[in-house]
Amino acid sequence: METIRGRRSLDLDLNGLTARLTNYNRVILDLGTGDGRYVHCLADNFPNAFVIGVDACRENLREHSRMKLPNALFIIASAQSLPDELNGLISHITINFPWGSLLESLLAGDCMLMHRLELISRSTTLIDVRLNGGALAEQGWTLEAGAEEIYDNLIHIGWHIKTPTMMKADVLRSFPTTWAKRLAFGRDPRAMQLNGYIK
Ligand SMILES: C[S@@+](CC[C@H](N)C(=O)[O-])C[C@H]1O[C@@H](n2cnc3c(N)ncnc32)[C@H](O)[C@@H]1O
Repeated sequence: METIRGRRSLDLDLNGLTARLTNYNRVILDLGTGDGRYVHCLADNFPNAFVIGVDACRENLREHSRMKLPNALFIIASAQSLPDELNGLISHITINFPWGSLLESLLAGDCMLMHRLELISRSTTLIDVRLNGGALAEQGWTLEAGAEEIYDNLIHIGWHIKTPTMMKADVLRSFPTTWAKRLAFGRDPRAMQLNGYIK
């Protein structure tokens, strides 16, 4: 699979990944990580966890992927075709403020994405999805209806998800991703979150 550090692209196979993960029981995967700020923040704050950021677009990742953290890795891949090397490894999935085909797949219950989420999970894996009103409006959904649709799609494939809740303005303001900051101080600061697990 293709990983990135700064401007350099590096191939990492299963043996290489297994070696990186030795000593880490908790493996967090941030899907649609954008510039990777969230991964950087988690890896810094939770040195006992290994944090993987995945995004289809490499340009935004240059800055944060350059920093040398022993417990962080950035992978270039689309959410619908995540590398097989990740199968069965992930204990926590986060998807923060998706747009484009990632959001489309969540809304459509796209089996390519849903199957991949299942494949990378362990027997109990947590999932957090955070959604914003503007991205959903671009796809023709209200925030509430879009969150409900994604909730239904996750429930349908067997995830246990709590009823979607609004993210309060102060939570959004202090949430450590670049997009959360943009939203919090932008025109449409409404966001909702879904939290749950697979069993
Ligand atoms: C609005 S940005 C959010 C970035 C970051 N999570 C944050 O909160 O700052 C959405 C990200 O989803 C990524 N994305 C969209 N579709 C994707 C897909 N199919 N697979 C992987 N990443 C995708 C985009 O490249 C973009 O970086």
